[in-house]
Amino acid sequence: MSASRPSIVRSLRLPEAVEARIAAEFDAPPPPDAPLSTDALLEAARERKAVALLVTHHTPITKDVLDRMPPDVKLIATVSVGLDHLDVDAIHARGLALTNTPDVLTECNADLAIFLMLAASRRAGEYSAIMRGGWGRTLAMDELLGQRVSGKTLGIIGMGRIGQAVARRAQGFGMTVLYNNRRRLAPELEHGATWISDLREMLPKTQILSLHLPGGPESDSLINAETLALLPRGAIFVNAARGRLVDEDALLAALSSGQLAAAGLDVCRNEPNPDPRLLAAPNVFMTPHVGSATVETRSAMGMLALDNVVAIVADAPLLTPV
Ligand code: DGY
Repeated sequence: MSASRPSIVRSLRLPEAVEARIAAEFDAPPPPDAPLSTDALLEAARERKAVALLVTHHTPITKDVLDRMPPDVKLIATVSVGLDHLDVDAIHARGLALTNTPDVLTECNADLAIFLMLAASRRAGEYSAIMRGGWGRTLAMDELLGQRVSGKTLGIIGMGRIGQAVARRAQGFGMTVLYNNRRRLAPELEHGATWISDLREMLPKTQILSLHLPGGPESDSLINAETLALLPRGAIFVNAARGRLVDEDALLAALSSGQLAAAGLDVCRNEPNPDPRLLAAPNVFMTPHVGSATVETRSAMGMLALDNVVAIVADAPLLTPV
């Protein structure tokens, strides 16, 4: 590492402005088009005597990876808010610093959740397929009807920054908003939403359910046959958080029985190769894990990760330590 240009390795190419900054201020290998394998990441870090690794949720950093970590690496900077691809305890135990990119992606992630809510409720996938096929036939007044979104009761599981931003947006749709969270938030953070401590109590009142909690062993398959059965028949389900929160067999069963009218999913279990039954279901609208995928947000995430590298090199406080 040269004193003026910190040496970094990134697992995936970043947006243009971030790449321009890397070229100007850092010593780094050419940007990879596809996520680097762990071996390639470690190899590049060793070769360059990298001080920091910039990774995304595609690159797990497990104990085994940490055992092979080159000695110059001081910081793992994940370009994500989610940490479920990282063994956080092991990273800390090894004395490495860890940062993520909270806040800068909140608004875009909440926008995407609302987009999925609308797309699933209003049958965007089916309408889009009709239009791509040339349309050609007037729909009958009772044909392919969606579900109204305005005025519905939205249940949010996980009322962190993104859940709160979704609650704020829901006010504009005249929704009643309920939320299930470990703790009740201060009233100014609730944005008019009502805390329900027991998920089983919230689900029967929820017409649109949206997940905004982290993925992890405690929340694995939180949405399963039992929890889905507690929703009113014909509910809408939205997941812009993590695929492992959902038992996909149970989700598919609820979608085909009519227990759920539709689902909007930005995430699924086996990314990037979703269960083909999800892809084939007409009442599932899916996007490829793109909650933060805007020029503004992805650039801000990359810049924040670089700011953290600059901080660690300068021995200054990290901006977003984990
Ligand atoms: C996040 O930031 O956690 C997004 O899901 C992308 O990984």
